[in-house]
Amino acid sequence: MSEKKTFYITTPIYYPSDKLHIGHSYTTVAADAIARYKRMTGYDVYFLTGSDEHGQKIERKARDKGVTPQKYVDDIVATFKDLWKLMDISNDGFVRTTDDYHVASVQKIFKKLYEQGDIYKSSYEGLYCTPCESFWLERQLKDGCCPDCGRPVEKVQEESYFFRMSKYAPRLIQHIKDHPEFIQPPARANEMLNNFLLPGLEDLCVSRTSFKWGIPVDFDDKHVVYVWLDALSNYITKLGFYSDDDSLYKKYWPADVHLVGKEIVRFHTIIWPIMLMALGEPLPKQVFGHGWLILEGGKMSKSKGNVVDPVKLCNRYGVDAIRYFLLREVPFGSDGVFSNEALIYRINSDLANDLGNLLSRTVSMIDKYFGGVIPAPGRPVAEQDDMILSLARELPQKVEQYMNELKIPEALEAIWALIGASNKYIDVTAPWVLAKDEANRERLGTVMYNLAEALRMVAILIQPYLPSTSPKMFAQLGVEGELTTYEACEFGRLKAGTKVCKGEAMFPRIDVKKELEELEAETLAAMAAPETNNRVPAETGAEPEASEEEYIDFDTFCKVKLKVAKVLDCKIVEKSKKLLQFTLDAGEAQPRTILSGIRKWYDDPEALVGRSVIIAANLAPRKIAGIESQGMILSAITGDEETLSMLTTMEDVIPGGSQVS
Ligand code: ME8
Repeated sequence: MSEKKTFYITTPIYYPSDKLHIGHSYTTVAADAIARYKRMTGYDVYFLTGSDEHGQKIERKARDKGVTPQKYVDDIVATFKDLWKLMDISNDGFVRTTDDYHVASVQKIFKKLYEQGDIYKSSYEGLYCTPCESFWLERQLKDGCCPDCGRPVEKVQEESYFFRMSKYAPRLIQHIKDHPEFIQPPARANEMLNNFLLPGLEDLCVSRTSFKWGIPVDFDDKHVVYVWLDALSNYITKLGFYSDDDSLYKKYWPADVHLVGKEIVRFHTIIWPIMLMALGEPLPKQVFGHGWLILEGGKMSKSKGNVVDPVKLCNRYGVDAIRYFLLREVPFGSDGVFSNEALIYRINSDLANDLGNLLSRTVSMIDKYFGGVIPAPGRPVAEQDDMILSLARELPQKVEQYMNELKIPEALEAIWALIGASNKYIDVTAPWVLAKDEANRERLGTVMYNLAEALRMVAILIQPYLPSTSPKMFAQLGVEGELTTYEACEFGRLKAGTKVCKGEAMFPRIDVKKELEELEAETLAAMAAPETNNRVPAETGAEPEASEEEYIDFDTFCKVKLKVAKVLDCKIVEKSKKLLQFTLDAGEAQPRTILSGIRKWYDDPEALVGRSVIIAANLAPRKIAGIESQGMILSAITGDEETLSMLTTMEDVIPGGSQVS
């Protein structure tokens, strides 16, 4: 028996310093779709993800929370694993950089590079960005700050180990030139060559002594290994590299694809290949730098407070709907914008209307006209049947071609072209007209068979992207066993006589207006009720101090215009379960309207009339539940959210007349 071809794909390993957001899910869902596709098409796949747990940032965050770094990362990594389970991620391995095998292997890698002279000891003076764990040269800074994240850098001076990157640069430049597939999309290869490699590589500082939370250099344990050397090694340590059992390494390395966000292509296409060259190991076949999922205001980040929570989205719309949106919406390699409107539109148009309707119409018609039994096809009518037959016959190859180029949205588009054509086929053949005349029985049977068969092929092909939708489709079509496999993805294999089984709508249509209003009201309620539950509880029970990253400077604080305002009127917003609508006198020409998501704490809104409250007056106005809210009312809320109190003044003050400071 011939051995299966192997395919090794990785995601980056995620920092457990922040909660994972929908942007992180994007990388993992994309890698999962590729891994599932390769498995389905006969490859022996290893799909790796994990967590990147060392570094000064984590050490600081843990200290701020009053827990050990290990406890801090353990708790967050557990939430990563839950998220991947929820999102149907089919990873074969999960690597943690705090795992023993990883630590031991990284120590051996470091030692080997030291012993062969590629790593040497010297002293370092430079500029370091702690959040990005990156060193920068003066000339690389943007307005004096980190060119990646825009935050201030710190001057550091310490005894360090250095890696002779420059020694390997010419070989790497040649490799990139000889292997155009190595860095994808191609624009990213030019960026690496022109911005980093051709101007000349500096030797890289690969150890730190200013913090402890890292892998100790075992022959000089004052030093810990630079986080990127530690992190990048994950791709081979999990496979047993430099361990007693390196059979997985022998089987799967070199990786077929490292899927990474565009901002970390540099680490993966410069530091990582040079490390591997120095170790005498083969380079990964491809590093694919995808774009970011951004919100209208820019990249999602915790510090900007614009994080979209994938768990909430999956619970609200279903995992497959979210997977579909992520995979379909963003041209792979470029940035894509996330918005509630775009998500709901995709769910309604592609999933509910196109796919869901096609299945339910087809199954209903087979029920109605053929007692639920798929009829045998008769003679084809070329001008009608060709529109789906030719598409269906070409589809598996088309999808394969796109997936080989990692063009996931295009692969989905091709599958949806067959779905669209099948819906059109129903309109053109008009089965309800055929059904009126017994003489058309054979033709009606052909139409039903073709529709059911197109749907069976769709159900097979969408498995990698919508893994829980396929089984639902097979169940309704009554198809099982071999006919659900990729090998049977060939038009005409469906057996006449198969009994269909009508089921629930797979993707119920969403009422767009109502949904958007509800979402906005929730956002507002979340803004009114500050997040109180720390995901990582402090063991000591002490109130955690704000970490440095969470401070804002005085000037930023002064930008918020706080005012005292008198409540002129307060009523319930009928369309919403959470909102109260306040009319306020803030000492301005016109009264202000502010909506606040605090209805649950105030049974009698009218009793609030006459109270003086504090408002944030210069918050950008926004429409919620169809009403423009012009600011925010400040409230205090207890940790368990049992009690909430609007902030008021101790003495009576003139509305708007006093500055709150
Ligand atoms: O970079 N859209 O970890 P990380 C798309 N530990 N992708 C996004 C995104 C967004 N809005 N936000 C983040 C690290 N990502 C290192 C990796 S690998 C040896 C070490 C992607 O948790 C980001 O581009 O900051 C990156 O590829 C991945 O999430 C992990 O980010």
